[in-house]
Amino acid sequence: MKVTVEAPANIAFIKYWGARDLESALPENASVSMTLDHCRARTTVERLPAAGRDEVLLATAGGVLEEAPVAFVAGVRRHLDQLRRWAAVEVPFRVATRNNFPTGAGIASSAAGFAALAIAVAASLERDPDAAELSLLARLSGSGSAARSVMGGYVRWPADDADPASPAVSLAPADHWPLCDLVAVVDTAFKSVSSREGHRRASTSPQFALRQERLGERLAAVGQAIRDRDLERLGPIVEQEAIDLHLIAMSSRPPIFYWRPGTLEVLEAVRQLRARGVGAWFTMDAGPNVHVICGPGDEEAVAAALAGLPRVISLLRDRVGTGPRSIEEHLF
Ligand code: DP6
Repeated sequence: MKVTVEAPANIAFIKYWGARDLESALPENASVSMTLDHCRARTTVERLPAAGRDEVLLATAGGVLEEAPVAFVAGVRRHLDQLRRWAAVEVPFRVATRNNFPTGAGIASSAAGFAALAIAVAASLERDPDAAELSLLARLSGSGSAARSVMGGYVRWPADDADPASPAVSLAPADHWPLCDLVAVVDTAFKSVSSREGHRRASTSPQFALRQERLGERLAAVGQAIRDRDLERLGPIVEQEAIDLHLIAMSSRPPIFYWRPGTLEVLEAVRQLRARGVGAWFTMDAGPNVHVICGPGDEEAVAAALAGLPRVISLLRDRVGTGPRSIEEHLF
């Protein structure tokens, strides 16, 4: 039986940056994200009849299946091993996956991919875990942000501040607040330093402890802004979080620079939009591309300003989404 799941990427308002335990993706602090709608990973899994190794393939946009890079295959097999342990089975799988957005460029491709894999494997084993358990299963991949991509709308992970091993929890469904995320792509190259390495180095930065001190207040304010649908309150915190993540990265030992010249160009354009009265705020994950958050009424003005910038290669227009779904269009 084949199972195909599409799971969305997410954009963090409060970032996961720094881990208590990297292997198990136990975060140093709670994070909050918005699940996206259009940027998705599609993953098909099938149980193989005979004992043997997992087959891991990448599907191209044209529908051709290709061998996946060695490191990618190893990551998927590690996650499959964890999922088999959870289900107490030994079956191998054929897996094919494809993203409809640039991979490894700060658009949470692993979050989408591992969330899709966890959901598809559970379904192909005829298990029916609830959203909280799926969150834990997605986190077993080692990609913490995957723990948030199993739910739609606005999500906090972990649910319990005192327990970094607790699952994600929904703060509000997508229809509570229809925010847009316009992603200005300024570089499609695969990022030079992984998030995993970034988490490992984070505590070597003198900025790390300073940010931790402010997080309690920021988490409370972001939760309240989401409840109140208050973008004027949310926006500045989201920007400060992105700046802090990159300050920590740039002052880690050794330092990590994700920004490119186009990144600064977009940040300047967002400031100019706000000076004209457009309610738009930026954020970035571990990459050079900039997510611009705004309400639907400002979407066209933001899109026009960003698309006209010389270093913007493409613009992905996304919005808050309802979460993963099973589909019948299999990749093989
Ligand atoms: C900067 O360890 O979840 O996106 O393995 O690349 O998915 P991947 O990253 P992960 O760290 C995410 C780091 C972040 C911030 C965030 O999404 O919270």
